[in-house]
Amino acid sequence: MSIRLARLARAQFPALARLHHGRPLIFFDGPAGSQVPYRVIAAISNYYLKHNANHGGAFITSQESDASTDQARQACADLLGSNDPNEIIFGANMTTLTFALSRAIAQTWKAGDEIIVSRLDHDANVTPWVRAAEERGVVVRHIEIDPVDCTLNLESFHRCLTDRTKLLAVGCVSNAVGTRNPFREMIASAKQVGAWVFLDAVHHAPHLAMDVSAWGADFVCCSAYKFFGPHVGILWGKREHLETLRPYKVRPCPETLPDRWMTGTQNFAAIAGVAAAIDYLSDIGASFGETGSRRQRLWKAFEAIEDYEKQLSQYLLQTIAQAGPFWIYGITEPSRLQQRVPTISFTSRTKSPKEIVQGLAERGICAWAGNFYALPLTEALQVEPQGLVRIGALHYNTFEEIEMFGKALKELA
Ligand SMILES: Cc1ncc(COP(=O)(O)O)c(C=O)c1O
Repeated sequence: MSIRLARLARAQFPALARLHHGRPLIFFDGPAGSQVPYRVIAAISNYYLKHNANHGGAFITSQESDASTDQARQACADLLGSNDPNEIIFGANMTTLTFALSRAIAQTWKAGDEIIVSRLDHDANVTPWVRAAEERGVVVRHIEIDPVDCTLNLESFHRCLTDRTKLLAVGCVSNAVGTRNPFREMIASAKQVGAWVFLDAVHHAPHLAMDVSAWGADFVCCSAYKFFGPHVGILWGKREHLETLRPYKVRPCPETLPDRWMTGTQNFAAIAGVAAAIDYLSDIGASFGETGSRRQRLWKAFEAIEDYEKQLSQYLLQTIAQAGPFWIYGITEPSRLQQRVPTISFTSRTKSPKEIVQGLAERGICAWAGNFYALPLTEALQVEPQGLVRIGALHYNTFEEIEMFGKALKELA
């Protein structure tokens, strides 16, 4: 099943056929952005070829452009598990959407209220809330991590939670060390004190199925460029909040959903590409025998992806451990692979993260070094300013690529 998934996927991604010094480039930079299948490229160029226009006109191209955005919104509702496509908001990226939302939510806070953020999160799910809290005199509490396996310390979380907590902002999956957070349990606890929950699902979306209707959060944000689409941010919010909060928008922008949260002109061509990325994923589900709705096909696709990625995680962990004196940050036990995704960070005793990724780059392997904007984590792990080496596998990566990487890492060690 696993080999079939990677083979099926790879044929659809033109970038994966790219050679560098006569050898195929190896893309382990997925956490910073995935490659895109042909159909995403085709959807974007088709938009410019035939439907390029601004929003809300009476003429044909504007109507087609709006229809294309509506289709993309429905596709996102299916991906996120919402029954209401008007709960889907498009924006430039997750960071920009989160800053905008945090401004609007902060208007409901008063001095002495509290919010909770975590040390495992990308800074895009920390600083927007911290800055908004500063402006309103709101207390910020930080969930500490357990540095041994880079998981959230749940005792610390429960200590942060009080009857003054207004918001819990937490990630679903760490983009730096691949930890899957127990966010459903955390949402249940936050709801007991009446807090709202904002989930950063950016690093969840390429690896695991989403189900906002079941999760019980108030807002969930992700980014299409991490799940095989173009550079577009996606925010889901509960209709009641999206209707009652007051977004920062210009006056001519309609008050109705979803427009009131999408002030200014959107990247309509890229939004057309988002629908194509989701259809790429749902077609994986169809290839694995699911003939039902797009939502059902997406579930099936993520079943196959999760299963394969567990094997990739195990092989990557083993490969890094055997390649030399490297220190892996995060969950490493084979019995706990369901608690992580194949995003694996490490340091070397002899070389800096930058030197390692430079050596990998010379061998045709794309990977990142640094803090990946998960600055609260790299600070907590005391690896600043050099940070970590991060290898991120997606379902289009293969065991052969991991073998090549292992060889390269041995040479560098
Ligand atoms: C977990 C996580 N959250 C948020 C972001 C920020 O997303 P964007 O680039 O869409 O602003 C990233 C980007 O790497 C991320 O990995």
